[in-house]
Amino acid sequence: MELNPVIAVLGRRLRLAVIGGGPGSFIGAMHRQAARLDDRYEIVTGILSSDPHKSKKAGLDLGLAPDRSYASVQEMLDRESSRNDGVDVVSIMTPNDSHYEYSLAALEHGFDVICDKPMTNTLEEAEALHKKVQESGLIFCLTHNYTGYPMVRQAKAMVADGQLGTIRLVQVEYVQGGKADEQKPMPEVLTWKYDPVRGGPSRVMGDIGTHAHNLARFVTGLEVAEVAAEIGTIVPGRLIHDFGGALLRFDNGARGSFWVTQAAAGVENCLRIRVSGSQGSLEWMQEFPQALTFKPLRDPSQNRTPNGPGTLPLAARSSRIVAGHPEGFHEGFANLYSDAAEAISARRAGKAADPLALYFPNSWDGLLGVRFVNSVIESSKANGKWTKC
Ligand SMILES: NC(=O)c1ccc[n+]([C@@H]2O[C@H](COP(=O)([O-])OP(=O)(O)OC[C@H]3O[C@@H](n4cnc5c(N)ncnc54)[C@H](O)[C@@H]3O)[C@@H](O)[C@H]2O)c1
Repeated sequence: MELNPVIAVLGRRLRLAVIGGGPGSFIGAMHRQAARLDDRYEIVTGILSSDPHKSKKAGLDLGLAPDRSYASVQEMLDRESSRNDGVDVVSIMTPNDSHYEYSLAALEHGFDVICDKPMTNTLEEAEALHKKVQESGLIFCLTHNYTGYPMVRQAKAMVADGQLGTIRLVQVEYVQGGKADEQKPMPEVLTWKYDPVRGGPSRVMGDIGTHAHNLARFVTGLEVAEVAAEIGTIVPGRLIHDFGGALLRFDNGARGSFWVTQAAAGVENCLRIRVSGSQGSLEWMQEFPQALTFKPLRDPSQNRTPNGPGTLPLAARSSRIVAGHPEGFHEGFANLYSDAAEAISARRAGKAADPLALYFPNSWDGLLGVRFVNSVIESSKANGKWTKC
């Protein structure tokens, strides 16, 4: 691969606008760092807050040009689309209820889009947005960032390579403890995260359930066909869902389990998957992302590591350094940005991108994520009835 495939194709870096990610936002800083890691983007403008004064101040603090400081997203899109050196890509990291509006507006202005999950709050919006992406021919990257870890990609490649045989069982869990503390007072004014309308129909599902669902699909290449679910609230007095569990039936007949919560006291960010096939099993855990355990049917258990022996091409291109040097959250996130950059620059130059760059989640994955959330809610309301996805 060239040193910088975007420069090789376009002769310059992609110009990026960010929406959201102002002071206090955890994920905004991650997006910006991910965009910069491989030097494929230059952040040229942004609306960092819904408050124009805060947005302008945050933009200046980041070193954005004052003459590209705009009062609203609409103004930014209008003005940038009429500049010769206008932005190429818009990245959206705002509260969930604005993803649809901003993504649609960016696509309508001819910009490629990178958007955080969940793609939208409603199924109608998800279907409309996916349709728009398909019609436009533009690139849409959904930042299910855990799919960017080298060992998650290695797991996917090993499954696709047949090393596990026929997939029979999938267990996925995303367990956090951030909402376990009953002493923590509810905010006086409900922020979007505690507002069932702005945050989406199920907080825990939008926050982490879509990540877990996407991870299971990404690694196995299978689709969840049906769920039997329960979703609800464990911590007394809470208005939003803080746990969800489901049994899964996959489209190849495999069975699975899904468990997500933000109310497990003391647990930090435990996203974990186990996949078992007729010839062996794989296990991976986000808090120790360097280790992928492979348990073959008849041989002793093995460990795969980034760039270690047995690394397959999809994983090899996802590590930046030689074996034994830990990489983690930032690098995984950056892999989605960098792959999307390859796809976007190739599209703009009318060339074909490296097929291995095309594994980032897209609007179809976003639509299936929203559909899964709805099916879990529907099943739970029907006392765990098996429900199609
Ligand atoms: N991929 C991940 O792992 C991950 C992790 C955390 C959050 N997220 C997603 O990121 C999004 C934001 O979450 P957060 O935790 O950063 O939220 P947050 O409330 O902490 O931050 C949101 C930021 O967006 C800004 N903002 C709000 N409305 C805006 C608007 N209309 N225009 C411009 N800026 C606006 C706010 O000023 C704030 O800076 C959510 O969709 C969430 O699901 C993803």
